[in-house]
Amino acid sequence: MITDDSEKNIALIEKGYQAVLEFIDQMEEISQLQDKVDITANINQIWKVFFNEIRNSIKMEACALFMVDEQSHEFVLKSASPSSMSFVCQSELEHQIECGMFSWIIRRRKPALVPSLALKNNKTIIMLPLVTAKRTLGMVFIVTGIEESAITQENMKLLAMLAKQCSLVMENSLLYDRLKKDHESLQRAQKQVLQAEKLASIGRLTTGASHEILNPLNILSGYIQLLAMKEGIDERTTRYLSIMSEQTERISRIVNGLYQFSQTSGASMEKVHINTLIRKVFQLFEHEHRYDHIHNVLDLQEDLPPIEGNADSLTQVMFTLLSNARDAMPRGGELNVSTRKMPSGSSDSGWIEIICRDTGHGIPEDVIDKIFDPFFTTKTLKNGTGLGLSISYGIIQNHGGTIRVDSKANEGTTVVIRLPCR
Ligand SMILES: Nc1ncnc2c1ncn2[C@@H]1O[C@H](COP(=O)(O)OP(=O)(O)OP(=O)(O)O)[C@@H](O)[C@H]1O
Ligand SMILES: [Mg+2]
Repeated sequence: MITDDSEKNIALIEKGYQAVLEFIDQMEEISQLQDKVDITANINQIWKVFFNEIRNSIKMEACALFMVDEQSHEFVLKSASPSSMSFVCQSELEHQIECGMFSWIIRRRKPALVPSLALKNNKTIIMLPLVTAKRTLGMVFIVTGIEESAITQENMKLLAMLAKQCSLVMENSLLYDRLKKDHESLQRAQKQVLQAEKLASIGRLTTGASHEILNPLNILSGYIQLLAMKEGIDERTTRYLSIMSEQTERISRIVNGLYQFSQTSGASMEKVHINTLIRKVFQLFEHEHRYDHIHNVLDLQEDLPPIEGNADSLTQVMFTLLSNARDAMPRGGELNVSTRKMPSGSSDSGWIEIICRDTGHGIPEDVIDKIFDPFFTTKTLKNGTGLGLSISYGIIQNHGGTIRVDSKANEGTTVVIRLPCR
């Protein structure tokens, strides 16, 4: 016989059973979240997905994400919803750190309910640590108006699972990012080694040869000049002699360039103030730039430390960069040269950077890999030997630095030089 009590019990069991089914469904959905987020997604995109899930899991008034900054190792606010709560969440974070709650939750690696210290009206805060087996990634703050006693164990379990999934997805994305960066820097290093090898073999080859060529060349151009001074020569011979003189001059320029190229490694080192050096080179171009409608912007960091270097060689590099920029802006434009010391504490500290940016015609993608090759030039035979950048490359390398060129056709070119200043 079924009594009222047993009917009530059955109804209760059914209700409980439904709740369990719902809970399992939610768990299953959460466990599949990983598949919804692409590995190439960034932290903001990942957070969007998880923020929606958190919002579906618990009634909340505000939610904030703090991530550990890789450089400073501090918790930095990444996102707050609504954004008007940013300040409140930030001060709440500071309170929780001060009272030791923060580090306790990180150590415990589980979500916890904490009474709000900064918020009034009995708000409860749920703190979800984002941790993986290897490291702490961040912390999620959920501000809710629900009383502490009304937050169930199931709520907390779901949130814990969400935090775990979110941590895993974020960790994967961060690892992917680092892998991508490592791969790119490896590719850059490989390119530099190839370039250095190429230049070294050319350097060896040219040391002796350039001397051997210059001597007979000087004799040749001397005779050409003598012939040109002779009286009574006809117009055609004068024209031929002028072409011969032009061409021997060109050979001389190339061979001189090659000679300098092979000499870049033996230069003596002294204390060089890069800003002073840049200002001097700019003075050389001042008149020309005004004439060519090139607007110069110099943005040199005041307290730039001096470097160990060879002033003549570095002047030659700056001269090359400024000549190339001028050639790229025949109808005028803007030339911006800036210097800066890399911030201490960063992975680049101990280095200075020179950036030379022009708004010229740029370098097409299919030739950018060739610009450091000796003799690569897009200029007329008269104007370019194609040695400027390859010599600069050798000089910067002998200073223990790096030189990189980024360019977009029709937009402009940026040359970035980094030199050690330890
Ligand atoms: N700022 C720049 N804007 C556009 N193209 C550039 C720039 N700098 C270099 N280039 C390209 O790279 C090529 C190689 O430059 P590099 O300075 O080595 O030789 P060059 O200027 O042609 O001749 P030179 O030996 O007289 O300097 C140039 O011919 C040009 O096509
Ligand atoms: Mg050049």
